[in-house]
Amino acid sequence: MEKYIINGGNKLYGSVKIQTAKNSVLPILAAAVLTDAKVKILNVPQITDVKNMVKILSCLGCNAVYEDSNIIIDSSSAHCYEIPSALAHELRSSVFLLGSVISRFHKAKIAYPGGCDIGLRPVDLHLTGLKRLGVQITEKNGYILCECDKLSGNEIMLDCPSVGATENIMLAAVKAEGTTVIKNAAREPEIEDLQKFLNCIGAKVSGAGSGTIIVEGVKTLGGCEFLPIPDRIEAGTFIIATAMCGGEVCAEGVCPENISSLIHKLRENGCKIHIKNDKIIIENHRRLISVKTIETQPYPGFPTDLQAQITALCCVCGGNSIVTENLFETRFKYVPELKKMGADITVIDRNAFVRGVDRLKGADLVAHDLRGGAALVLAALAAEGRSGVVDIYHIDRGYGSFEYKLRKLGADIVRVTV
Ligand code: EPZ
Repeated sequence: MEKYIINGGNKLYGSVKIQTAKNSVLPILAAAVLTDAKVKILNVPQITDVKNMVKILSCLGCNAVYEDSNIIIDSSSAHCYEIPSALAHELRSSVFLLGSVISRFHKAKIAYPGGCDIGLRPVDLHLTGLKRLGVQITEKNGYILCECDKLSGNEIMLDCPSVGATENIMLAAVKAEGTTVIKNAAREPEIEDLQKFLNCIGAKVSGAGSGTIIVEGVKTLGGCEFLPIPDRIEAGTFIIATAMCGGEVCAEGVCPENISSLIHKLRENGCKIHIKNDKIIIENHRRLISVKTIETQPYPGFPTDLQAQITALCCVCGGNSIVTENLFETRFKYVPELKKMGADITVIDRNAFVRGVDRLKGADLVAHDLRGGAALVLAALAAEGRSGVVDIYHIDRGYGSFEYKLRKLGADIVRVTV
């Protein structure tokens, strides 16, 4: 088993290159199944979720090979419509494959997807959308079996702007007969990136980023070479780390407008943040004042994937904060770990009531999910004394070279095997 050993108290200085977005690369990998032509995805992050998604593509019969940090996928020999349950349980984004596998085989079978234990994570909106396109769905013994004679375009109104459901329906609609209109679609930048990729291989998708996406079905698709957008959540994680530890850090290769909600909050906290093209420079040398309220919302609201990290920051601000998690039911599993460090937090339903303390103390911590685990690392970096963090495989799902990048900024963090 691997763990982090962290000695807190170092300020962070220097620059950090941001990886391509996990939540863009994953649906794009699923989209590669749609075409028989080769696609090359550039500079993919070296993270577990991507490795597992590539394994799933190989199980479907796709030829997926790494070339340095690029992945080349040739789906011309894809022949299997069943997504292996062991891998489906590993990652939520396996569910995106439903749309592309159904489009290719008119059949798909998947076990209920896994991923972070942050809530119920239903897939009802995915399935309702696919049914609107003509898919018959049977749910039995923990499996979802999808079949259709053909896929036909239709109008779909999502009950909530689900990222995954929007992406799944886009994938299934690309080669459907006729036009599909997705209303109340998710607006995340990763949705726009998927649209850009799909159009790059010859699809006709428009409207991503607005609440309404239009997909005109096409008959054939080609190949392309594609560079996904930067990971706004990784960038936000390093920016919050600097706000907590103090110092001056430049996050490079980012899209600042994609995390404007975080930048706005941190400026309210008293951080100096300077934006220059694809760089965000944050500087802080004093204790921050608390931001009174933070509410997670679908994009462009404050991202739920930065909720744990900003709550860790609130723990060491001067004053009180209320953090409300509006998207997932149980996304405060990291709070008891922060309380081991002396944090003053009370969770009631979807609200965390935080009273800032002067300093957290190092402790032995357990990561329970990807972003909560990252938040524990940030808290340990800012704390006084030594911390250990176990179950860091959760963190490896979404952050490539995490400790290496932090060490390069001056953090005292090592990964050890115990
Ligand atoms: C995507 O998950 C991201 N994962 C999540 O990032 C992110 O937190 C989430 O979007 C919200 O931005 C990937 O892109 C791989 P949703 P997804 O469907 O698609 C409800 C990370 O840390 N819902 O937008 O699963 C659901 O319960 C991960 O990188 C239904 O009710 O999120 C939740 O309350 C964690 N029925 C809300 O919608 C459905 O069929 C948002 O979920 C689907 C979702």
